[in-house]
Amino acid sequence: MKGLILSGGKGTRLYPLTYTRAKQLIPVANKPVLVRVIEAIREAGVTDIGIIVGDTAPEIEEALNARDDLGVNITYIPQDAPKGLAHAVQIAADFIGDDRFVMFLGDNVIEGGITDLIRDFSANDWNSQIVLKRVPHKDASSYGVAVLRPDGTVERLVEKPPDPPSDLALVGIYMFDHHVFEAVRNIKPSARGELEITDAIQWLIDNGYRVYPHVHEGWWIDTGKAKDMLAANDQVLMEIAPHIDATAVIEDSRIDSRVTIEAGARVIRSVVRGPAIIGAGTTITDSYIGPFTSIAHDVKVESCEIEHCIVLEHSALRNLPARLQDSLIGRHAEVGGDERKPRSLKMKLGDYSKVWIP
Ligand code: DAU
Repeated sequence: MKGLILSGGKGTRLYPLTYTRAKQLIPVANKPVLVRVIEAIREAGVTDIGIIVGDTAPEIEEALNARDDLGVNITYIPQDAPKGLAHAVQIAADFIGDDRFVMFLGDNVIEGGITDLIRDFSANDWNSQIVLKRVPHKDASSYGVAVLRPDGTVERLVEKPPDPPSDLALVGIYMFDHHVFEAVRNIKPSARGELEITDAIQWLIDNGYRVYPHVHEGWWIDTGKAKDMLAANDQVLMEIAPHIDATAVIEDSRIDSRVTIEAGARVIRSVVRGPAIIGAGTTITDSYIGPFTSIAHDVKVESCEIEHCIVLEHSALRNLPARLQDSLIGRHAEVGGDERKPRSLKMKLGDYSKVWIP
């Protein structure tokens, strides 16, 4: 069994956060989503992993090469443009060979990992296994959607239908045997110009191959949009075991039991309510950090209230006149308040930034 992770694409929906950065590298509870995907595959016993990379290949390779805790063999597979999930399968043919494989979209986060799914797929002679999740009907048009027959087998799949025929969304985790390569050779690009994996799976169904649908009961988040990033952060923060590193410095502060504080972080005259995580080397002074907040490494927070936010590394937040909430702050960002009257707003914002001022 091999693993194939899709980490190409452009990530435009997370501008400006991903302006210079692969969306799969944005951390959820201070760990990039892509690393969470690699760990889920490794925990299922699969250590031979191909990663499809596009324009952001250098950043992805640098980020993964810098880690010594992955414990897997990685083969990078360059894709010249995001031509579709089935195109990614096609270009991975040499890497996969005759093996069965699990394909995992590099921006998906799922509760409970994939160990049981891989075990079931290995123990059966299905040609493919797909993972489905019931979603609110109004959201189904953002995903691939499956229609099941009364006996539970898959009748058909449609990619992002404007009028969804069911509320069963396709989760970005798929298992295949070598027949999928025949399927991708036989499909044509969709109206949006991509080779769709949903069409390839439909081809398998139409040609009598066994596609087994597993309906996932836990949470699943496609982190393609900012609000989903925060939702994924909420879920993962609730699951991680809290830990305060021995080298962290805590002075005159109140720290909730569900808080993780990483190496060398300093929390001075502050309150931190969990679930929350404070990254290595970060300093929090005279501040309140509320639940569901992830602050990455080497951040400075002074005289601020922050709740339900993701703050990326090397940023500085100072003297905010109001609580910062439901926000994503990129790397090396500076956010500051001004004590002088009349109060003025002064900003230096990147392209596509969004700022709400009450
Ligand atoms: O997340 C689940 C959904 O993922 C499914 O319900 C849909 O059926 C499936 O088409 C896919 O839809 P998305 O619109 O979310 O796919 P997206 O373009 O965001 O790409 C998913 C990941 O795959 C992302 O990490 C980028 C990567 N990718 C994408 C394309 C199109 C590639 O590596 N190469 C590509 O050509």
